[in-house]
Amino acid sequence: MTSPIRTERHGDVLVIVSDSPPVNALGAAVRQGLEAGVKEGVADASITAMVIRCDGRTFFAGADITEFGKPMQEPGLPTVIDMIEAADKPVVAAIHGTALGGGCEVALGCHYRIAVPSAKIGTPEVKLGLLPGAGGTQRIPRIAGVKLALEMTAKGDPISASRAKDAGLIDRLAGEDSLEADAIAFAREVASNRPLPRASEKNVTPDPEAVEAFRKENARRFRGFDAPAANIACVEKAASGASFADGIAFERAEFMKLMMGVQSAAQRHIFFAERQAAKIDDVPADTPLRPIKKVGVIGAGTMGGGISMNFLSAGIPVTIVEMQQDALDRGTGVIRKNYEATAAKGRIKPEAVEAAMGALTPTLSLDDLADCDLVIEAVYENMDVKKELFGKLDTIVKKGAILASNTSYLNVDEIAASTGRPEDVVGMHFFSPANVMKLLEVVRGEKTAKDVLATVMALAKKIRKVAVVAGVCHGFIGNRMLAPRQIEAMKLLMEGATPEQVDKVHVAFGMPMGPFQMSDLAGVDIGWHRDPTRIESIRDALAAEKRWGQKTQAGFYDYDERRNPSPSPRVAEIIEEFRQKSGAPAPREISDEEIVERTLYPMVNEGALILEEGKAQRASDIDVVWIYGYGWPVYRGGPMFWAGTEGLPKIVAGLEKHGCAVARSLKDAAASGGRLK
Ligand code: 3HC
Repeated sequence: MTSPIRTERHGDVLVIVSDSPPVNALGAAVRQGLEAGVKEGVADASITAMVIRCDGRTFFAGADITEFGKPMQEPGLPTVIDMIEAADKPVVAAIHGTALGGGCEVALGCHYRIAVPSAKIGTPEVKLGLLPGAGGTQRIPRIAGVKLALEMTAKGDPISASRAKDAGLIDRLAGEDSLEADAIAFAREVASNRPLPRASEKNVTPDPEAVEAFRKENARRFRGFDAPAANIACVEKAASGASFADGIAFERAEFMKLMMGVQSAAQRHIFFAERQAAKIDDVPADTPLRPIKKVGVIGAGTMGGGISMNFLSAGIPVTIVEMQQDALDRGTGVIRKNYEATAAKGRIKPEAVEAAMGALTPTLSLDDLADCDLVIEAVYENMDVKKELFGKLDTIVKKGAILASNTSYLNVDEIAASTGRPEDVVGMHFFSPANVMKLLEVVRGEKTAKDVLATVMALAKKIRKVAVVAGVCHGFIGNRMLAPRQIEAMKLLMEGATPEQVDKVHVAFGMPMGPFQMSDLAGVDIGWHRDPTRIESIRDALAAEKRWGQKTQAGFYDYDERRNPSPSPRVAEIIEEFRQKSGAPAPREISDEEIVERTLYPMVNEGALILEEGKAQRASDIDVVWIYGYGWPVYRGGPMFWAGTEGLPKIVAGLEKHGCAVARSLKDAAASGGRLK
């Protein structure tokens, strides 16, 4: 097999080039080639300096994650990096694209670094439940200081080349199109510099206050995760005056602990699951896409406004339609306010507000959607309303345009049948707030054309969503699985649990909120029949008293003016009244364990049914839905991955104990020691 690494001589400079698509991950062959390349440069007396660069779209994007958990092949990355640093001739890293993780660590092992202005540098290992395990936690603080090292390692967001230059992580910026030539010239310039600057030989300025302050400031953000604390501990070790060798030994031990743990396995699973979700089994990757240059959105409420913002932010013009002028004005006003608030926080430039608003065309007429390439409706969730609307769109919107519904439950095939072009109809289910939540469920109708699906999946990436394909069924993947959880949560109230107890268990599990907090946020009155005299459930009883959730300052909780919740004595009375009225047994003590079994196990069961029915392509797609749409803790890898860590036999036993009909595939997988796929 040919090596992905080649060497090229440019006079007295040896350029070591990696060509390992797609992202030059540092797999065994790349590591071996790098080692050989540097050895060649060191051994050759005619070479005075070396450059390491990559072909393709990026500098090394990190260790090869697919190798994790498999037997290690020599040389290890730390060995290669130590060897580069120990070379007695200068080695220059020439960076373009993203120097991430192990890639950043290779660069920091080099004596000098030059990068194009568009490059980014970072250590995102924490997002995989890990830490930079090839010296990053010890070299970054030595070069850039403790504060930036904490930010980069424990949060994992890459920084720009110019910021890296200010921090000393980059020595020089190259021309955007002349990286190799500039790197060679730089290498010649520094060829006779001695002693060579080696990060491992630098001292760290101790800053214990910075470490403590960082821990405190980010405690909430890091709640439940193991990796951030380990990253902080490694930087703290460097900042404590420990020798480089001691720091590296500490880093290695912490890295191995994380690598063997469930959290990193879960986070790595999600990394690949997210990328896998973008692939549709029977839609080839090279399917020609329909051009989407202009989008129409129907409905300027919270949902329609949020959906519009996704496209505006991506530079795609939007025509937004409402029925009444005041609703249209209100909707566009909210969009502007949201952009202005983002600009005030410094997250976008003030000009970006006007650019986005300038690309928005508000109108009261559906006829103005005629030349849109994609129209998404976000109107009232009612089949008749949607059918009538799609019938109209069919006569108005140009041929070849995609017609999408943002429905969260309804049958997309039935909606599609109200048009003469069901192949152009698809579900695009955004999650509220639609400009923030990353998930997009793409609902594939029976007749949806393959190029429509491919176009919507590509568009999702463009507007920075994570898209998952779902089949037509009530609630698709996410809301369908939410239903049994909500049903069981309500039953638990009848049996003696309190809303706060159930929610507490979910929050302790790592969810952003529990089922009752979620109801209060979304609105207890959603889907309510609106007849206060008809009380058939605890929810009806709450709705009848206008306990509609946060918006009326009362729901399953009482709220003060600042929307701080407190347990509600009135809700306790309502539950008790309802319990007595329905002749339910006296309340009993309910354990936290039972809450998990009753509310989370049925979700796994529903997920298994969804897979059996072919409504999701793969179990990992379901995990992606729950991570990005509902805030399932990523360190638990989504409900289906979590089910594997919990143990399928235990889940089946728990479901049976509580009288739930167990999905056939779940039973089979549990019995055979397999997993749900
Ligand atoms: N190892 C193995 N495969 C990788 C990889 C890696 N580090 N990074 C990306 N890939 C694969 C992806 O799975 C994908 O494969 P597919 O085409 O079969 O689905 C392909 O490369 C392209 O990736 P993306 O679709 O993500 O491409 P983008 O252009 O959108 O993004 C990227 C490129 C920003 C480099 C992004 O892939 C990324 O963030 N990669 C991970 C970076 C990372 O986490 N690095 C740290 C690794 S851990 C480490 O280095 C440990 C060390 O400290 C010891």
